[in-house]
Amino acid sequence: MRITVIGCGYLGATHAACMADLGHEVLGVDVDQEKTAALAEGRPPFFEPGLARILERGVGTGRLRFTDSYADAAEFGELHFLAVGTPQRPDGRADLRQLTSAVGELAPHLRRPCVVVGKSTVPVGTAEALTGMLRQLAPVGGAASLAWSPEFLREGHAVEDTLRPDRLVIGRAEGDTRSAAALREVYRALVLAGVPTVETDLATAELIKTAANSFLATKISFINAMAEVCEAVGADVGQLADALAHDSRIGGQFLQPGLGFGGGCLPKDIRGFAARAEELGAGRALAFLREVDGINVRRRERLVELTVRACGGTLDGRRIGVWGAAFKPGTDDIRDSPALAVAAALRERGAEVVVYDPRALDNARKTFPGLEYAESATAAAEGTDALLHLTEWREFGAVDPAPLAARVRAARLVDGRPGLDLDRWRGAGWTCDVLGRGEPRPETAVPSPDGKTEVDV
Ligand code: UGA
Repeated sequence: MRITVIGCGYLGATHAACMADLGHEVLGVDVDQEKTAALAEGRPPFFEPGLARILERGVGTGRLRFTDSYADAAEFGELHFLAVGTPQRPDGRADLRQLTSAVGELAPHLRRPCVVVGKSTVPVGTAEALTGMLRQLAPVGGAASLAWSPEFLREGHAVEDTLRPDRLVIGRAEGDTRSAAALREVYRALVLAGVPTVETDLATAELIKTAANSFLATKISFINAMAEVCEAVGADVGQLADALAHDSRIGGQFLQPGLGFGGGCLPKDIRGFAARAEELGAGRALAFLREVDGINVRRRERLVELTVRACGGTLDGRRIGVWGAAFKPGTDDIRDSPALAVAAALRERGAEVVVYDPRALDNARKTFPGLEYAESATAAAEGTDALLHLTEWREFGAVDPAPLAARVRAARLVDGRPGLDLDRWRGAGWTCDVLGRGEPRPETAVPSPDGKTEVDV
């Protein structure tokens, strides 16, 4: 099939390369010529494991090409995927300008029947609005139909998630068999491989995506809320999470306590979803998402607090090493990165902060020029009063804490993520403060047998 993918960011570039890998003829479209030039040479403009290989393969076979021309895209495609960004507006709602602009640019060139398929994460009702726009602007009128097939890929696993997804969602207007048939044809190899397919209406398709991300965010914030309680009583949230994970109804995925979620999706999607529910008069149903967000933000504050405490109550004149800048390992994406939010907050409060990340340093440097950057994990630790582990890259787990202790000003570790063998660090002379594993606070209230609560002082 001849496919275009409009928007060549993390989602679109991966989707385009994977569709070519499935045997389709693909044209990637982006207004950023620097990006399309790099992609056309088989070079991804960002780090995504496995992408370079299939990109090169697609470009090499000639099945995968790139352009900045909507006219060429309209001429070429039988099916057009919309994979542009829907970032967060200052009021929390999704900014749909890239999406409306993509449809606005493409539609006037559509002169033959085709299907336009949204993949971006959008507020429910967007697909219906875009359907009206498409009908109005496309010379071919109703012969250009609009469908929604949300994407569930994770950065860092984007290729495998696209080629072996957990499910496919096909959202189409009532009676629109053409769109559904076209999408089944595009995804034929995946359907044949047994990937479950949910065919539904447009609104449900849009909601499935925001519901999935909201559930994942809620699960993370649930365990981080437990961490807050553990910190208050001196319990261990790591063991608590492990024990919960043995219950197959709960499961251990996304139950990892720590610095919480960041990135270009989860934070903005829960805010956008809550805002959309309010517009629809269903705000109360999603009021809990505000708390999910609040718990997540408090993790960052707690980490700053732990660092101040580890530094003896002040950050003045203190040098802090930060391991991690990406919002999670396996990516160079720093959008809403918890690690950089903490680094910036410490800098703001007077500390000298030096950051190291295996992949995200270039992006971090551009966005946070006020921080210092080091070229290795060891260099970032050199001469510091506290070392913070904020993104769980595997290479940090491999660092030997014993020689490192000799290179710092004070061997204090503040750990916000899994992956370090803390017994080994403690054995090497480090003091370790870990999120969710606090000392009991002296003012901890002790429930008395008669049901009243006393304060144990
Ligand atoms: C997320 C979803 O997982 C994808 O299914 C979805 O397609 C994507 O958003 C999107 O909407 O495009 P992604 O943003 O790549 O994917 O990142 P995740 O792997 O979901 O991680 C999100 C954040 O949660 C990271 O900061 C990670 O460190 C954090 N996290 C994850 C935790 O703090 N604890 C956990 O147990 C798991």
